[in-house]
Amino acid sequence: MQTLKISFIGGGNMAEALIAGLLSSNHEPQNILVSEPRPQRRLELSDQYGIRTTADNNEAALGTDILVLAVKPQQMRDAVRSIAGHLGEQATVVSIAAGVRTASLAEWLDDAAHIVRVMPNTPALVGAGMSVLFSKAGGTYCQRAEYVLKSCGEVAWVDHEDQLHAVTAVSGSGPAYFFLLAEMMQAAGVSLGLPKALAEKLATQTALGAGRMLCESGRSAEALRHQVTSPGGTTQAALDVMYEMGLPDAVRKGVVAASKRSAELG
Ligand SMILES: NC(=O)c1ccc[n+]([C@@H]2O[C@H](COP(=O)([O-])OP(=O)(O)OC[C@H]3O[C@@H](n4cnc5c(N)ncnc54)[C@H](OP(=O)(O)O)[C@@H]3O)[C@@H](O)[C@H]2O)c1
Repeated sequence: MQTLKISFIGGGNMAEALIAGLLSSNHEPQNILVSEPRPQRRLELSDQYGIRTTADNNEAALGTDILVLAVKPQQMRDAVRSIAGHLGEQATVVSIAAGVRTASLAEWLDDAAHIVRVMPNTPALVGAGMSVLFSKAGGTYCQRAEYVLKSCGEVAWVDHEDQLHAVTAVSGSGPAYFFLLAEMMQAAGVSLGLPKALAEKLATQTALGAGRMLCESGRSAEALRHQVTSPGGTTQAALDVMYEMGLPDAVRKGVVAASKRSAELG
């Protein structure tokens, strides 16, 4: 896989996260080409990562094994139409744009294109992303897309494209739910008299520790919660109030609202 030619259309934040991940998996920098309209951004990417850059989307498409579409959803139609006809028959097209359906990409590109649609999330920027993939393309194309996304975190697949709405609601928007909780914990710490910097550190390190326990302990979230909740203790006092004020219901309804919004935008 390390010798495959990988091109990016759009050299923004998510493209950079994937490039950094690929290089740390020993992908050859000279096999990575980014097409990006802003000259300053092209310079930044080539200086920092030693990869090749261009302002010409067709150059990026021509002869590449994997083409990653990493522009904003509203920029996608123009970007994709500009490369139609320049892709090789065996190229894998990986779209990370939220809400852009594979049928639209196929219509704009070419119905024979091998398309994999991905819903990543922002922790990809620190190598801890969660990407969910959907495709009707064959095994090799799926493996190639998985190789790219695995470089910056975990991957999973869904069988039905419509499931990506729920994925968007849970892992796509999910980091914001944890950030909100961290914000609220920090503010509460300050209101109880802690210095702001200390309250921030406590919330941040607690989020990291809880996340690592979820990943590494092999125990469920529910089991871990029970483990830190002694009957009649401080955690129990907090959780009683949170349940009483409807936090679980608020989270459930919030996730459903995000999924509905994803369907509306799609
Ligand atoms: N960031 C996230 O949290 C996140 C999470 C999940 C999915 N995604 C998806 O990832 C995609 C990229 O997001 P991002 O945050 O990386 O966006 P971004 O930072 O705005 O990057 C997009 C880049 O593409 C360039 N571009 C625009 N039109 C182009 C064209 N026709 N040809 C080539 N390049 C073009 C843009 O240049 P200009 O600035 O000059 O327009 C910009 O540098 C989006 O579709 C988004 O839905 C992002």
